Amino acid sequence: MNTNSKGLDDIVVTSSELTLIDGFRGTLSYCGYDISDLTSNCSFEEVVFLLWHGSLPSINELDNFKAQINQNRNIPPQLISLIRQSPKESSTMDLLRTCVSYLSSFDSNLLDTSLEAKMNASIKLLAKIPTILCYSERIRYNQEVIEPNPDLDFAANFLYMLQDKLPDDSFTRVFDKCLVIHADHGLNASTFAARVTASTLSDVYSAITSAIGTLKGPLHGGANEAVMKMINEIKTLENTQSYILDKLKKKDRIMGFGHRVYKTIDPRAVILSNISKQLQSDQGGILYDISTEIENIMKREKNLRPNVDFYAASVYTMLNIPSHLFTPIFAVSRISGWCAQILEQYVDNRLIRPRANYVGPKSRTYIPLKDR
Ligand code: COA
Repeated sequence: MNTNSKGLDDIVVTSSELTLIDGFRGTLSYCGYDISDLTSNCSFEEVVFLLWHGSLPSINELDNFKAQINQNRNIPPQLISLIRQSPKESSTMDLLRTCVSYLSSFDSNLLDTSLEAKMNASIKLLAKIPTILCYSERIRYNQEVIEPNPDLDFAANFLYMLQDKLPDDSFTRVFDKCLVIHADHGLNASTFAARVTASTLSDVYSAITSAIGTLKGPLHGGANEAVMKMINEIKTLENTQSYILDKLKKKDRIMGFGHRVYKTIDPRAVILSNISKQLQSDQGGILYDISTEIENIMKREKNLRPNVDFYAASVYTMLNIPSHLFTPIFAVSRISGWCAQILEQYVDNRLIRPRANYVGPKSRTYIPLKDR
């Protein structure tokens, strides 16, 4: 038995037609299209269609797909009550995980094992997660919830429901690019968790609940919020060097750096860095400057490069999105990749069941309770 696979490093467990990552060249493509082409040219909805159907949509297909998303944006009143009753201090990721799990109770086709039923569940989740998130955020701050706007596409509708105003076109374009960038990324931890759950032939909602619980961790999706906390603590360009060196001396991890697969810069970080630079030049401030300073120090001191979470932090902040929503927004996008990956799992399934190398005691003699 192979005993050298702690963390399943470099272990190939399945085949996939979705995402190709070259960790040495720092490239990423979805279904054969380079991430920078997709980010420059496609809307998030086009990319979701690509991931779910294997090809980019025609105009008609895209219109139909958007209409399907649109029709599924509302959430059941029982779910709104659950959000209202949740403690205000509960984290948005915890609430999102609970809500997604609860949504399964409202799907009358839950036990239908056809691919069509699973695709319908995927559309429901894609459409409803933004609503859950925006409602929970507004309820948390005792604000009126803003119902989905049928005239708006995915990115614009999210910003509208969150901020209660029609978003600026340039903000919408940037947010849409962020959604494209986060859509899928091979067998990352949350996707793997979703595929493991799907491989037991459990339902789509259970698989996505597993994925959300996994994304939450600070070594995965939770890193983006931690990056913003760090930038806020640093405060000024002058403090950056001493702050980072101090952390490294204490052997702390610098969030937003390093990656299991990329041995060079994460191509998504390159795109987000350019967006961050542009936003700072439009709006002023020093978030991009502090970020690049951290990037330079980390390259010099540890030869570690930024990952997707690093520049996402400054970009979202400049879009006026609070940091506790960064990881939930990761889920708003990644639901597309999770669903694509579990649909792929269902089509060619084998139970995922690895083994552990047992290192505990062997051949112990049983001692009855009264004698211990
Ligand atoms: N800051 C400081 N040191 C880091 C680091 C970071 N962000 N990431 C890795 N390292 C160091 C480790 O301390 C370790 O050093 P050592 O060999 O001297 O002990 C070495 O690099 C390898 O780390 P390891 O945890 O084995 O790599 P991994 O492939 O398991 O980790 C991550 C990948 C992403 C978990 C890791 O880079 C990390 O914790 N990054 C910060 C969290 C983050 O940004 N997550 C989002 C990922 S998209």
